[in-house]
Amino acid sequence: MPSPIGEQIEKLRQEIRRHEHLYYVLDQPEISDAEYDALMRRLQDLEREHPEYASPDSPTRRVGGKPREGFVKVEHSSPMLSLDNVFSEGELRDFDRRVRDLLRGQAFRYVAELKLDGLSMAVRYENGRFQSAITRGDGRIGEDVTENARTIRSVPLRVKGGPERFEARGEVIMDRTAFERLNAERDQQGLSRFANPRNAAAGSLRVLDPSITASRRLGFFAYLRLEDGRPVDGGHWESLETLARMGFKVNPHRRRCRDVEELLAFCQEWEKKREDLPYEIDGVVAKVDSVAQQQRLGFTAKAPRWAIAYKYAARQAETEVLDIGVQVGRTGALTPVARLKPVLVGGVTVSRATLHNEDEIQRLGVEIGDTVLVERSGDVIPKVVRVVSQGAARRPFRMPEQCPVCGGRVVREEAEAARRCVNTNCPARLKESILHFASRGVMNIDGLGDALVDQLVDRGLVRSVADLYALKVEQVAGLERMAQKSASNLIRNIDKSRKNSLPRVLAALGIRFVGERTAQLLAEHFGSLDAIAAAAAGDLQAAEEVGPKVAESICEFFREPRNCELVERLREAGLQFSYQGRRKESGKLAGLTFVLTGTLPNLTREEAKERIEAAGGKVSGSVSGKTNYVVAGGDPGSKLDKARKLGVPIIGEPELLELIRSGPG
Ligand code: IVH
Repeated sequence: MPSPIGEQIEKLRQEIRRHEHLYYVLDQPEISDAEYDALMRRLQDLEREHPEYASPDSPTRRVGGKPREGFVKVEHSSPMLSLDNVFSEGELRDFDRRVRDLLRGQAFRYVAELKLDGLSMAVRYENGRFQSAITRGDGRIGEDVTENARTIRSVPLRVKGGPERFEARGEVIMDRTAFERLNAERDQQGLSRFANPRNAAAGSLRVLDPSITASRRLGFFAYLRLEDGRPVDGGHWESLETLARMGFKVNPHRRRCRDVEELLAFCQEWEKKREDLPYEIDGVVAKVDSVAQQQRLGFTAKAPRWAIAYKYAARQAETEVLDIGVQVGRTGALTPVARLKPVLVGGVTVSRATLHNEDEIQRLGVEIGDTVLVERSGDVIPKVVRVVSQGAARRPFRMPEQCPVCGGRVVREEAEAARRCVNTNCPARLKESILHFASRGVMNIDGLGDALVDQLVDRGLVRSVADLYALKVEQVAGLERMAQKSASNLIRNIDKSRKNSLPRVLAALGIRFVGERTAQLLAEHFGSLDAIAAAAAGDLQAAEEVGPKVAESICEFFREPRNCELVERLREAGLQFSYQGRRKESGKLAGLTFVLTGTLPNLTREEAKERIEAAGGKVSGSVSGKTNYVVAGGDPGSKLDKARKLGVPIIGEPELLELIRSGPG
């Protein structure tokens, strides 16, 4: 008989599981992170006090158990095959023709899914409980990564319904944000970077210490459901829906296609939109929907005949490193940059690629004259992936001991990968700070680009960002390639920026680790710049998402007399130093709450959110009775179903823009 404590523990576990599912699988949290942490702490305390109720599928076990000596090899229930690839429309049509021939004119459908760029993993369940997890390995035998997989929040430890035993296969991924954050942390710790999210995901899953996996924020998307090593009778689409119902995360961007034309449309659509996804994909997977037809089509030695991977053109190309130079950033960090023989990468000419820091140069083993593979992804600066062949007359690159711009002293702090120019007056640092100050999302001063900033600094017109506010039209009009009109536009834009709200001013200061989001949260919490400047590290951490590292960086900034002087001059220039809270009481959308789902035709999700908030509205992650509108785009998620169920009005992008223009009613 379970005692009341046992019941309490079980209830708490159920509640936490529900919130984990809402947060990690459905992306629709109902409680704050702090509330979740509090529930988790309570469960941990209870389990510590009552060890007799320990259970391997308790949410507390997601933090990572003891490190092991090595991985145990496990045989797969049926081989984990790979897929045949096609690289063009013509090849996809050939595949479709083969399928049609083999099915001898039977009607059939495809399911199109995104091809997630991670590593595959099989997870096994018994009586609704997570049992084990195995990497693909050689396809026949993989490695037991059960303890590591347990730490991945989107791998359910308990599932709803389902047979006594079954297996789900899917992809372990790391999203771009987690990847960038991980590499930034590794830079700071003087460790080598991961080349891409896929390697980072693999490196994070296949570690002997599960607590490392736990810290890496991996995700798992299920895309296959097996019983006794075989797909379950019925259809694949249905199977995906069953997986989602059981509590797995199933990628929402999927479509049933009646023919190859619809399939191609899906492929082309996502080739355009792939950069908007928070994780990387390298193509589309098409699978014949009916399991009976899949059986009829069968397998070749290495891949099913009923599925195909349509791979997107590589955003990689080979070229020669002509030289390696050094850029000095806003914080003084020296970044080595490869100058390349210009090469087309996915339709864009690339002539420079970042090498990040000297450890990365060492890891890559790259020297001037080598032929390298470069990669472009999203908006980020192209990077060197690896050396393809060494140049005959190659020569190594050495990081300079002095700042290449001001000749000042350069230091490499212990446990940091970057060298920094310590001269706060370094013109390169000043130029970068001005560009950052003026950039979009920060002070948003249009017309203040590279060439102009160079001139303003080189001629001594601007020695600090505060000097921008003292600039006169005549001074700017006298510069190269500057007409009277663009000069007065610039001055007007600078003038206008005085009205920017505190979060922007705070982000503009360029305090390390204080980006737009942190600035927003700090402004909401403290309400004024003076309160932030006066706060001790401990007090700063009371703000959401501010940890010791960020807090210390803020304190350090305001300890520096030069920075305090800058702040005073900005105050005199009339910038906004206080904040009336995030919620705008005025604006066309004041008091309205929106939920965004799916991909909008023109606006990115971020842009849509900004516009709504600028008009005084609020954007929430989940649909509830308080939601006024759900804005739905292509491939909407389950939020749309919920909206229908609750009778929340559903609108598209045009209606949203109309609301912003004219308000409701
Ligand atoms: S189905 C027998 N679906 O691509 C069918 N695979 O190149 C096996 N992958 O090993 C795979 N996204 O790691 C399938 N939606 C998806 C996928 C996917 C990514 C990976 C998987 C597989 C590799 C084959």
